[in-house]
Amino acid sequence: MLNPNKLVNNNFLSSSDVSSDEVIQILRLAKNFKNKEIKIELKNKVLGLIFDKSSTRTRVSFQVAMSRLGGTTIDLNPTTSQIGRGEPIKDTARVLSRYCDAIAIRTFDHSDLEEYAKWSTKPVINALTDLEHPCQALADFLTIYEEFIDFKDVVLTFIGDGNNVANSLILCGALLGVEVRIACPKGFEPNSLVIQKAYQIYENKDLLKITNEPNSAVLGANVLYTDVWSSMGEENQKAEKDKLFKGFTIDSDLVSKAEKDAIVLHCLPAYRSKEITDAVFESKNSRIFDQAENRLHAQQALLSCLID
Ligand code: CP
Ligand code: NVA
Repeated sequence: MLNPNKLVNNNFLSSSDVSSDEVIQILRLAKNFKNKEIKIELKNKVLGLIFDKSSTRTRVSFQVAMSRLGGTTIDLNPTTSQIGRGEPIKDTARVLSRYCDAIAIRTFDHSDLEEYAKWSTKPVINALTDLEHPCQALADFLTIYEEFIDFKDVVLTFIGDGNNVANSLILCGALLGVEVRIACPKGFEPNSLVIQKAYQIYENKDLLKITNEPNSAVLGANVLYTDVWSSMGEENQKAEKDKLFKGFTIDSDLVSKAEKDAIVLHCLPAYRSKEITDAVFESKNSRIFDQAENRLHAQQALLSCLID
């Protein structure tokens, strides 16, 4: 039987690989999965997981999501498979396409993920690259959807590094028509091609703002979001970035300048007292653990839309 939820694109490499309607479809399905109002079976289907970087949430939520759908996962650890020995991506992709029904990949260069997708005959999912983290953005907007019901009039302010997480939030926000403000230190703005693409998607171009001023960026915000200042692969920049990002911590003072019932999100893992204070992390405004849970529901929905 044809999959009624099938997306137009075979792959999910970027938040902008889906249309506005398709994001809404995924979020609604995710909510249905969460409320146990729907049963979709991917019986005997296998998701391959290739993780070139560490992961707790993404890895486990994909494993549990497949298990709940009646399928399974194979953890293709690069150090114990031939991937770590440098087998060409195009060979690995063609071989795994013969065994697996989809592959989720976490790696450094986004172009490696694209190369993989070029040679794979099965859906490829971005489980995080240096450029984007689109599965995270699905869970983030699911959390926002649960809180505000409607995306209209929601203002999301991301404070910190214009990194993979920020890039995917911008693109997904553009698809949903959410006002997204990014406040980052000079030189750490989000990817310029992502910004360009987002402006093409937004009907109202005023809804995306990039600034170096966290204090004004939080005025009227309903959602405050942050991520680590130094991402995986940037470990040697930690000391320098810690200095450059002074003033970009989400603390109680910054939260008090946002809307009264503003919620706080963080994709995790977090460095308390760097990008977020412990008080804010543990505060009543925090929806950080609902957000983490939503990784599971959002990915269950995504998998059921990608795998036949
Ligand atoms: N947020 C996130 O992707 O977490 P992991 O690195 O633990 O997968
Ligand atoms: N920006 C972070 C996200 C971790 C989930 C990183 O890439 O390390």
